[in-house]
Amino acid sequence: MSTLVNAEELTAKVKEMYRQVAEKPEAGFHFELGRPLAVRLGYDVDVLDRIPAGAVESFAGVGFFFDLARLSEGGTVVDLGSGSGMDAFYAASLVGSTGRVVGVDFTVEQLDKARRLAADAGVDRIEFREGRIESPPIDDGSADCVVSNGVINLSPDKAQVFAAAARLLRPGGRLAVADIVTERQLTDSIIANADLWASCIGGAAQEDEYVEAIEAAGLRIATVRRNPYEFVSTQARNASGTYGVKSISLLAIKPSH
Ligand SMILES: C[S@@+](CC[C@H](N)C(=O)[O-])C[C@H]1O[C@@H](n2cnc3c(N)ncnc32)[C@H](O)[C@@H]1O
Repeated sequence: MSTLVNAEELTAKVKEMYRQVAEKPEAGFHFELGRPLAVRLGYDVDVLDRIPAGAVESFAGVGFFFDLARLSEGGTVVDLGSGSGMDAFYAASLVGSTGRVVGVDFTVEQLDKARRLAADAGVDRIEFREGRIESPPIDDGSADCVVSNGVINLSPDKAQVFAAAARLLRPGGRLAVADIVTERQLTDSIIANADLWASCIGGAAQEDEYVEAIEAAGLRIATVRRNPYEFVSTQARNASGTYGVKSISLLAIKPSH
Protein backbone atom coordinates (compact mmCIF):
# COMPACT_ATOMS: atom_id res chain seq x y z
CA MET A 1 0.00 0.00 0.00
CA SER A 2 1.40 3.39 -0.99
CA THR A 3 1.61 5.72 1.98
CA LEU A 4 3.10 8.60 -0.02
CA VAL A 5 -0.16 9.78 -1.54
CA ASN A 6 -3.02 11.08 0.59
CA ALA A 7 -5.73 8.43 0.04
CA GLU A 8 -8.69 10.73 0.76
CA GLU A 9 -7.40 13.48 -1.51
CA LEU A 10 -6.75 10.89 -4.22
CA THR A 11 -10.27 9.44 -4.01
CA ALA A 12 -11.77 12.94 -4.27
CA LYS A 13 -9.65 13.81 -7.33
CA VAL A 14 -10.34 10.50 -9.08
CA LYS A 15 -14.09 10.82 -8.50
CA GLU A 16 -14.07 14.38 -9.83
CA MET A 17 -12.08 13.40 -12.93
CA TYR A 18 -14.37 10.48 -13.80
CA ARG A 19 -17.54 12.43 -13.01
CA GLN A 20 -16.49 14.68 -15.90
CA VAL A 21 -15.66 11.69 -18.12
CA ALA A 22 -19.24 10.43 -17.56
CA GLU A 23 -20.98 13.78 -17.93
CA LYS A 24 -18.80 15.67 -20.44
CA PRO A 25 -16.75 13.20 -22.48
CA GLU A 26 -16.32 15.86 -25.18
CA ALA A 27 -14.67 18.30 -22.73
CA GLY A 28 -11.07 17.39 -23.62
CA PHE A 29 -8.87 15.44 -21.20
CA HIS A 30 -5.19 14.65 -20.84
CA PHE A 31 -6.00 11.14 -22.07
CA GLU A 32 -7.85 9.82 -25.12
CA LEU A 33 -11.47 8.77 -24.84
CA GLY A 34 -14.19 7.07 -26.79
CA ARG A 35 -14.69 5.06 -29.96
CA PRO A 36 -11.51 6.00 -31.90
CA LEU A 37 -9.45 4.88 -28.90
CA ALA A 38 -11.42 1.62 -28.56
CA VAL A 39 -10.97 0.81 -32.25
CA ARG A 40 -7.22 1.51 -32.14
CA LEU A 41 -6.83 -0.70 -29.06
CA GLY A 42 -8.42 -3.64 -30.90
CA TYR A 43 -12.14 -3.69 -30.04
CA ASP A 44 -14.36 -5.30 -32.68
CA VAL A 45 -16.32 -2.57 -34.44
CA ASP A 46 -19.30 -4.87 -35.03
CA VAL A 47 -19.60 -5.47 -31.28
CA LEU A 48 -19.10 -1.74 -30.56
CA ASP A 49 -21.97 -1.00 -32.95
CA ARG A 50 -24.30 -3.04 -30.72
CA ILE A 51 -23.26 -1.19 -27.51
CA PRO A 52 -25.00 2.00 -26.32
CA ALA A 53 -23.14 4.95 -27.89
CA GLY A 54 -23.12 6.77 -24.54
CA ALA A 55 -20.98 4.01 -23.01
CA VAL A 56 -18.55 4.03 -25.93
CA GLU A 57 -18.14 7.84 -25.90
CA SER A 58 -17.00 7.72 -22.22
CA PHE A 59 -14.68 4.73 -22.66
CA ALA A 60 -11.44 5.58 -20.84
CA GLY A 61 -9.64 2.24 -20.94
CA VAL A 62 -6.01 1.65 -21.91
CA GLY A 63 -6.06 -1.71 -23.70
CA PHE A 64 -7.98 -4.66 -25.15
CA PHE A 65 -8.09 -8.02 -23.38
CA PHE A 66 -11.25 -9.86 -24.44
CA ASP A 67 -9.22 -12.24 -26.63
CA LEU A 68 -7.33 -13.19 -23.44
CA ALA A 69 -10.50 -13.38 -21.34
CA ARG A 70 -12.02 -15.96 -23.73
CA LEU A 71 -15.55 -15.41 -22.43
CA SER A 72 -18.08 -18.06 -23.30
CA GLU A 73 -21.85 -18.26 -23.50
CA GLY A 74 -23.43 -18.24 -20.04
CA GLY A 75 -20.33 -16.95 -18.23
CA THR A 76 -20.30 -14.60 -15.25
CA VAL A 77 -18.02 -11.56 -15.53
CA VAL A 78 -17.05 -8.88 -13.00
CA ASP A 79 -15.68 -5.54 -14.24
CA LEU A 80 -13.64 -3.71 -11.58
CA GLY A 81 -13.91 0.05 -12.19
CA SER A 82 -16.64 -0.25 -14.84
CA GLY A 83 -16.93 3.48 -15.58
CA SER A 84 -19.75 4.25 -18.03
CA GLY A 85 -19.99 0.55 -18.84
CA MET A 86 -18.45 -0.06 -22.28
CA ASP A 87 -16.52 -3.18 -21.23
CA ALA A 88 -19.52 -4.47 -19.27
CA PHE A 89 -21.73 -4.13 -22.37
CA TYR A 90 -18.99 -5.68 -24.52
CA ALA A 91 -18.69 -8.62 -22.09
CA ALA A 92 -22.48 -9.01 -22.01
CA SER A 93 -22.54 -9.37 -25.79
CA LEU A 94 -19.94 -12.17 -25.53
CA VAL A 95 -21.59 -14.16 -22.70
CA GLY A 96 -25.01 -13.92 -24.35
CA SER A 97 -28.49 -13.95 -22.92
CA THR A 98 -27.68 -16.63 -20.30
CA GLY A 99 -24.56 -14.83 -19.04
CA ARG A 100 -24.26 -12.17 -16.40
CA VAL A 101 -22.05 -9.11 -15.86
CA VAL A 102 -21.52 -7.07 -12.69
CA GLY A 103 -19.67 -3.75 -12.86
CA VAL A 104 -18.27 -2.09 -9.74
CA ASP A 105 -17.31 1.59 -9.49
CA PHE A 106 -17.18 4.27 -6.80
CA THR A 107 -18.06 7.31 -8.95
CA VAL A 108 -21.81 7.90 -8.65
CA GLU A 109 -22.10 9.74 -11.99
CA GLN A 110 -20.43 6.83 -13.83
CA LEU A 111 -22.80 4.36 -12.15
CA ASP A 112 -25.83 6.53 -12.92
CA LYS A 113 -24.88 6.76 -16.57
CA ALA A 114 -24.12 3.04 -16.96
CA ARG A 115 -27.38 2.05 -15.21
CA ARG A 116 -29.42 4.46 -17.32
CA LEU A 117 -27.86 3.13 -20.55
CA ALA A 118 -28.55 -0.48 -19.51
CA ALA A 119 -32.16 0.35 -18.64
CA ASP A 120 -32.70 2.27 -21.90
CA ALA A 121 -31.25 -0.66 -23.86
CA GLY A 122 -33.49 -3.09 -21.97
CA VAL A 123 -30.48 -5.14 -20.84
CA ASP A 124 -31.15 -6.70 -17.45
CA ARG A 125 -28.24 -9.14 -17.27
CA ILE A 126 -25.79 -6.30 -16.47
CA GLU A 127 -25.78 -4.81 -13.00
CA PHE A 128 -23.71 -1.87 -11.77
CA ARG A 129 -22.87 -1.82 -8.05
CA GLU A 130 -21.37 1.01 -6.05
CA GLY A 131 -18.21 -0.10 -4.28
CA ARG A 132 -14.44 0.02 -4.13
CA ILE A 133 -12.35 -2.32 -6.24
CA GLU A 134 -10.34 -3.11 -3.09
CA SER A 135 -13.47 -4.62 -1.51
CA PRO A 136 -16.03 -5.31 -4.25
CA PRO A 137 -19.53 -6.15 -2.93
CA ILE A 138 -19.64 -9.51 -4.74
CA ASP A 139 -19.70 -13.13 -3.52
CA ASP A 140 -16.56 -15.27 -3.29
CA GLY A 141 -15.97 -17.69 -6.18
CA SER A 142 -18.86 -16.29 -8.21
CA ALA A 143 -16.97 -15.09 -11.32
CA ASP A 144 -15.67 -17.01 -14.33
CA CYS A 145 -13.73 -13.93 -15.32
CA VAL A 146 -12.71 -10.65 -13.68
CA VAL A 147 -11.80 -7.80 -16.03
CA SER A 148 -10.49 -4.31 -15.32
CA ASN A 149 -9.42 -1.58 -17.73
CA GLY A 150 -7.23 1.38 -16.74
CA VAL A 151 -8.29 1.32 -13.09
CA ILE A 152 -5.92 -0.60 -10.82
CA ASN A 153 -3.17 2.00 -11.33
CA LEU A 154 -5.49 4.42 -9.53
CA SER A 155 -5.60 2.30 -6.36
CA PRO A 156 -3.10 2.94 -3.56
CA ASP A 157 -3.56 -0.70 -2.45
CA LYS A 158 -3.03 -2.90 -5.51
CA ALA A 159 -2.30 -6.01 -3.41
CA GLN A 160 -5.78 -5.71 -1.94
CA VAL A 161 -7.34 -5.35 -5.41
CA PHE A 162 -5.59 -8.51 -6.68
CA ALA A 163 -6.56 -10.39 -3.50
CA ALA A 164 -10.17 -9.31 -4.12
CA ALA A 165 -10.00 -10.46 -7.76
CA ALA A 166 -8.65 -13.85 -6.64
CA ARG A 167 -11.46 -14.11 -4.06
CA LEU A 168 -14.16 -13.41 -6.66
CA LEU A 169 -12.87 -15.96 -9.19
CA ARG A 170 -13.92 -19.59 -9.23
CA PRO A 171 -11.03 -22.09 -9.48
CA GLY A 172 -9.82 -22.02 -13.10
CA GLY A 173 -11.25 -18.51 -13.54
CA ARG A 174 -9.43 -15.79 -15.48
CA LEU A 175 -8.27 -12.28 -14.59
CA ALA A 176 -7.92 -10.16 -17.75
CA VAL A 177 -6.61 -6.65 -17.17
CA ALA A 178 -5.35 -3.65 -19.11
CA ASP A 179 -3.44 -1.13 -17.04
CA ILE A 180 -0.64 1.43 -16.87
CA VAL A 181 2.70 0.28 -15.45
CA THR A 182 6.28 1.59 -15.51
CA GLU A 183 9.64 0.12 -16.46
CA ARG A 184 11.47 2.18 -13.83
CA GLN A 185 10.54 3.27 -10.30
CA LEU A 186 8.78 6.66 -10.19
CA THR A 187 10.22 9.28 -7.87
CA ASP A 188 8.59 9.94 -4.48
CA SER A 189 7.54 13.43 -5.59
CA ILE A 190 5.54 11.95 -8.50
CA ILE A 191 4.01 9.26 -6.28
CA ALA A 192 3.01 11.87 -3.66
CA ASN A 193 1.17 13.99 -6.28
CA ALA A 194 -2.56 13.13 -6.26
CA ASP A 195 -3.07 15.03 -9.55
CA LEU A 196 -0.58 12.76 -11.30
CA TRP A 197 -2.30 9.71 -9.76
CA ALA A 198 -5.67 10.83 -11.08
CA SER A 199 -3.99 11.22 -14.49
CA CYS A 200 -3.07 7.49 -14.45
CA ILE A 201 0.67 8.14 -13.99
CA GLY A 202 1.49 8.66 -10.30
CA GLY A 203 -0.03 5.35 -9.21
CA ALA A 204 1.50 3.23 -11.95
CA ALA A 205 3.45 0.36 -10.40
CA GLN A 206 6.67 -1.00 -11.74
CA GLU A 207 5.75 -3.85 -14.09
CA ASP A 208 7.68 -6.56 -12.23
CA GLU A 209 6.14 -5.54 -8.89
CA TYR A 210 2.68 -5.46 -10.48
CA VAL A 211 3.14 -9.01 -11.79
CA GLU A 212 4.53 -10.17 -8.43
CA ALA A 213 1.51 -8.71 -6.61
CA ILE A 214 -0.81 -10.75 -8.85
CA GLU A 215 1.16 -13.92 -8.18
CA ALA A 216 1.21 -13.15 -4.44
CA ALA A 217 -2.61 -13.16 -4.59
CA GLY A 218 -2.43 -16.80 -5.75
CA LEU A 219 -2.97 -16.25 -9.49
CA ARG A 220 -0.72 -17.63 -12.24
CA ILE A 221 0.42 -15.19 -14.94
CA ALA A 222 -0.24 -16.56 -18.43
CA THR A 223 0.28 -13.57 -20.76
CA VAL A 224 1.67 -10.02 -20.58
CA ARG A 225 1.76 -7.84 -23.70
CA ARG A 226 2.15 -4.16 -24.55
CA ASN A 227 -0.76 -2.11 -25.91
CA PRO A 228 -0.80 0.59 -28.63
CA TYR A 229 -1.86 3.20 -26.07
CA GLU A 230 -0.46 6.72 -26.35
CA PHE A 231 -0.36 9.46 -23.76
CA VAL A 232 -1.73 12.81 -24.85
CA SER A 233 -0.41 15.50 -22.48
CA THR A 234 3.18 16.70 -22.58
CA GLN A 235 3.61 15.84 -18.90
CA ALA A 236 2.41 12.29 -19.49
CA ARG A 237 4.54 11.90 -22.62
CA ASN A 238 7.62 13.08 -20.71
CA ALA A 239 6.93 10.65 -17.87
CA SER A 240 6.40 7.92 -20.39
CA GLY A 241 9.84 8.58 -21.88
CA THR A 242 11.68 8.98 -18.58
CA TYR A 243 10.13 6.14 -16.60
CA GLY A 244 8.89 3.83 -19.34
CA VAL A 245 5.24 4.45 -18.43
CA LYS A 246 3.19 2.19 -20.74
CA SER A 247 0.00 0.21 -21.09
CA ILE A 248 -0.08 -3.58 -20.85
CA SER A 249 -2.76 -6.24 -21.12
CA LEU A 250 -2.36 -9.25 -18.93
CA LEU A 251 -4.03 -12.61 -18.30
CA ALA A 252 -3.72 -14.46 -14.98
CA ILE A 253 -5.47 -17.70 -14.04
CA LYS A 254 -6.69 -18.94 -10.66
CA PRO A 255 -5.34 -22.48 -10.25
CA SER A 256 -8.01 -25.20 -10.20
CA HIS A 257 -6.61 -26.80 -7.04
C1 LIG B 1 -9.77 5.28 -16.27
S1 LIG B 1 -11.44 5.03 -15.79
C2 LIG B 1 -11.79 3.52 -16.62
C3 LIG B 1 -13.25 3.18 -16.65
C4 LIG B 1 -13.61 1.96 -17.49
N1 LIG B 1 -12.91 0.78 -17.05
C5 LIG B 1 -13.33 2.22 -18.95
O1 LIG B 1 -12.53 1.47 -19.51
O2 LIG B 1 -13.88 3.17 -19.50
C6 LIG B 1 -11.30 4.56 -14.09
C7 LIG B 1 -12.60 4.21 -13.40
O3 LIG B 1 -12.29 3.53 -12.18
C8 LIG B 1 -13.05 4.08 -11.12
N2 LIG B 1 -12.25 3.88 -9.90
C9 LIG B 1 -11.00 4.35 -9.67
N3 LIG B 1 -10.53 3.91 -8.49
C10 LIG B 1 -11.53 3.15 -7.95
C11 LIG B 1 -11.65 2.41 -6.74
N4 LIG B 1 -10.66 2.39 -5.84
N5 LIG B 1 -12.80 1.74 -6.51
C12 LIG B 1 -13.82 1.79 -7.42
N6 LIG B 1 -13.76 2.46 -8.59
C13 LIG B 1 -12.62 3.13 -8.85
C14 LIG B 1 -13.31 5.50 -11.51
O4 LIG B 1 -14.46 5.99 -10.89
C15 LIG B 1 -13.46 5.40 -13.02
O5 LIG B 1 -14.79 5.17 -13.40
